[in-house]
Amino acid sequence: MDSAPAGPWPFRLEPLSANLGARIDGVVLADDMSDAVFATIYRAYLRYQVLLFAPQDVPPARQVALARRFGEVQIHVMNQYHADGHPELYRLSNLDAQGKPNGRHPDKGTLEWHTDGSWRRRAGHATLIYGEVVAPTGGETHFADMYGAYERLDAAWKARIAPLRAVHNLDFSRTRRHGEDPMTDAQRSATPPVDHPVVRTHPETGRKSLYLGDHAESIVGMPYEAGRTLIEELNRLAIHPDLTYEHRWTPGELIIWDNRCTMHRATPYDPATQGRVVRRCTVLGEVPA
Ligand SMILES: [Fe+2]
Repeated sequence: MDSAPAGPWPFRLEPLSANLGARIDGVVLADDMSDAVFATIYRAYLRYQVLLFAPQDVPPARQVALARRFGEVQIHVMNQYHADGHPELYRLSNLDAQGKPNGRHPDKGTLEWHTDGSWRRRAGHATLIYGEVVAPTGGETHFADMYGAYERLDAAWKARIAPLRAVHNLDFSRTRRHGEDPMTDAQRSATPPVDHPVVRTHPETGRKSLYLGDHAESIVGMPYEAGRTLIEELNRLAIHPDLTYEHRWTPGELIIWDNRCTMHRATPYDPATQGRVVRRCTVLGEVPA
């Protein structure tokens, strides 16, 4: 978290943990928000990395409109998830047409720590996720601070990884690692692997962060297995309980996070007996540097 003074805020803002995340009350997200209010929300986003908005109705079109304030919204290659007539929205649901749990987890890749859209050259910036149906147990979302993950590495680790680049590959994390609902040839050819620095500098805060997660498959110039070992070790070292916020959802909440300096994951739930429906969209960011 940035230590510079950030307030006062034109809404109620409560930090969610000692390190990252803030809850905001008093903002109606479905309204057209002024540039001044949006600028303040954006300032809070840069400072807290994760923003939780109090429960409210945010229709799909308003969610997309809000996402566009952050930048160009990604049309996800996995088009079977497109929701509500908006290709920008990606719905994760285990409910059938009758609203009953269908027994299938919609995306097991979300259970591993990752950062959205790292498998694209222009990687993920903000993700906006809206909770429609909340599982009674499980289905939480956890967030981890990647500025802190980098800062807590010792000097030897920092020197070792400073020149490294990792190859991020959606086909690896989705198909080969989790083995469910394989990508089609067209989806695969639309998302060739890309490489990004293992340590990136946030383009707006100037702070360094660790940038790996579950889409990272290998290290450029390193034998495949050695790269896998290094990535797995760094992904483990990146998670510190005191630099993590664990969110238990209430229906109607909307969370926005900055993929450039955080990782996240969902916790499991029983998709045979419990319903969980979220819709999300991700804004395209910069080419990481
Ligand atoms: Fe995600």
